Amino acid sequence: MSPSKILSCLCLLAVANYVAYASDPSQLQDFCVGVTNPIDGLFVNGLFCKNPTVVTPEDFYFKGIDKRRNTMNQVGSNVTRVTAANIPGLNTLGVSIARIDFAPFGVNTPHTHPRATELLTVLEGTIYAGFVTSNLANGDNKVFAKVLHKGDIYVFPQGMIHFEANLGKTPAVALSSFSSQNPGAVTIAAAMFGSKPSIAVGVLARAFQLDPRIVKKLQSLRFG
Ligand SMILES: *[C@@H]1O[C@H](CO)[C@@H](O)[C@H](O)[C@H]1NC(C)=O
Repeated sequence: MSPSKILSCLCLLAVANYVAYASDPSQLQDFCVGVTNPIDGLFVNGLFCKNPTVVTPEDFYFKGIDKRRNTMNQVGSNVTRVTAANIPGLNTLGVSIARIDFAPFGVNTPHTHPRATELLTVLEGTIYAGFVTSNLANGDNKVFAKVLHKGDIYVFPQGMIHFEANLGKTPAVALSSFSSQNPGAVTIAAAMFGSKPSIAVGVLARAFQLDPRIVKKLQSLRFG
């Protein structure tokens, strides 16, 4: 084989490797219904799975995502997460879903999902939604935002800080699909000003260019 052919083979291998890493890992079995007590389960590929012979339709079932949630809180929104914690049969499948209820002008405040890309589908109302890029080479953080209406879908790429706000005088509802069974969430305001123990005032005063008294005030608020 000529050196140039060897090089192109290596390049192909590199591309194939990249594609493999860009997808969810394939499963080793049809399902692995999660159990907390290993006595009830089998040990498969490092995880405890419910014995398939005793798996039931209930293991793949969740009821009531159509129900409105209470949004009478400081931000005017309520996220109902449906993950492997609620549907044991989702374990190892790499997806989950959530319902978001918004009060009039309610906000799902800036947050990130460290382990998932999100597809937001608007079911009701008018929502302003967007995400912020990571730090660009020129130091900017670019925002990609849009006003969405019923039936619209918006993508929040994995790990990007994003937010949604109801622009209307009536409630809004969205359904979010995630590319992980456990997307995780970091709410920026809570992580910065509501952490336990608190982050030193001087650090936050510098970071947010705020008077330390304002930082202390923010730290005294409830975020969760
Ligand atoms: C969300 O709604 C549920 C049911 O209506 C309620 O029990 C829960 O306290 C609400 N959560 C927040 C953060 O308001």
